[in-house]
Amino acid sequence: MQLSTDLEAWRAEFPILSSTVYMISNSLGAMPRRTADSLAEYARVWAARGVRAWEERWWEMAREVGDKVAAVIGAPAGSVSMHENVTTAAMVALGCVRPPALSAVEGSRTRNRIVCLAADFPSLVYLYRAQQPLGFDVIVVPADSDFTVPLDRLLGAIDERTAFVSFSHVLFKTSYIMDAAAIVAHARERGALVMLDGYQSAGIIPVDVTALGVDFFVGGCLKWLCGGPGTAFLYTRPDLLHTVEPRFTGWFAHRSPFAFDTGAIDPRGDAMRMMNGTPSIPAYYAALPGLEIIAEVGVDRIRARSKQMTARIFELADRYGFPSIAARDPERLAGTVAVDPPDALAVSRALKGRDFLVDFRPGVGIRLSPHFYNTTDEIDRLMAEMARIVEHKDYAAGATLRSLVT
Ligand SMILES: Cc1ncc(COP(=O)(O)O)c(C=O)c1O
Repeated sequence: MQLSTDLEAWRAEFPILSSTVYMISNSLGAMPRRTADSLAEYARVWAARGVRAWEERWWEMAREVGDKVAAVIGAPAGSVSMHENVTTAAMVALGCVRPPALSAVEGSRTRNRIVCLAADFPSLVYLYRAQQPLGFDVIVVPADSDFTVPLDRLLGAIDERTAFVSFSHVLFKTSYIMDAAAIVAHARERGALVMLDGYQSAGIIPVDVTALGVDFFVGGCLKWLCGGPGTAFLYTRPDLLHTVEPRFTGWFAHRSPFAFDTGAIDPRGDAMRMMNGTPSIPAYYAALPGLEIIAEVGVDRIRARSKQMTARIFELADRYGFPSIAARDPERLAGTVAVDPPDALAVSRALKGRDFLVDFRPGVGIRLSPHFYNTTDEIDRLMAEMARIVEHKDYAAGATLRSLVT
């Protein structure tokens, strides 16, 4: 009880909570009130300081934001670089792996496999498939019909032929928490580089990239970190940062960018080594307040509250007779519960039309994603509304939303 009371004090910091039941933080976290001030600060600095802003703050701002992310994911300062989206960040990481086509030409024995999951976010699978002309063989490990991926099946796909393993820490459709420690250890023992996609874990469950021993960890500030679009991140294991040679590089990675020398790059030894061109400065201003709030609230407390709320969703889903594919073991479930009432797509649209903000994903139904700023009362109201819509097949408010992406 104490926990919910403490956290409810944060509600005033998120304007949208006064006009909606905002249960969609797995997609887009609510904007903190102070983000408007931070963006106004960006405009003020640009207007008043102009080009001087680069040397006064902007040039190293990716480092500054990266260090805030680092504090949330158990990474040391200087190990997290910032990118526009996770797909780009993954390309930077993958760009550190020698293309098999090149090794084959040189006659050396080659590791040519990229291993990922059919349950991963599709954007990354598209990216990996696009690397096949470079000699990579892409192994997409299938999921079961409930979207889970048996650990043995994934481990069995990783062997001495594997160059790069990429998998979701938390699966985006079901919020299932993969056994990251076991997978990372297995992959590293076989000499593969491992990248964990933590977009659905960072900010909602505790993450310790150092303890996991992972080579790369990607995620974004858009969802559980309440930072808006345009700020994805890439953690690189600090010892790798001194040796990796990303093929996707640029002048921000150079030790002396203003020498404008076109000889071989002299790369920095910190996270900035993984950067390339001019970064999205306004997105950094947008992201900082959310990152600061998440650090202040604390991911352990967020997780404890999240478990209470996901348990409440299961309780009501059972009471109303709505099936759910989500894992019942709270240790395997992150922040989202997908419930699947009849006509789930129409129901989700009707809910949105009535200011209950949720989304729908094929195969799993309506995803409900409470964050620390939600209340049990909101869950009760949302589930009661869902039950009313289902009982009366009353999808009216959804009609106007038909053209919108859900
Ligand atoms: C697990 C996961 N990875 C990646 C993404 C998106 O990647 P990107 O930032 O490239 O759009 C999402 C978005 O929903 C996601 O849930």
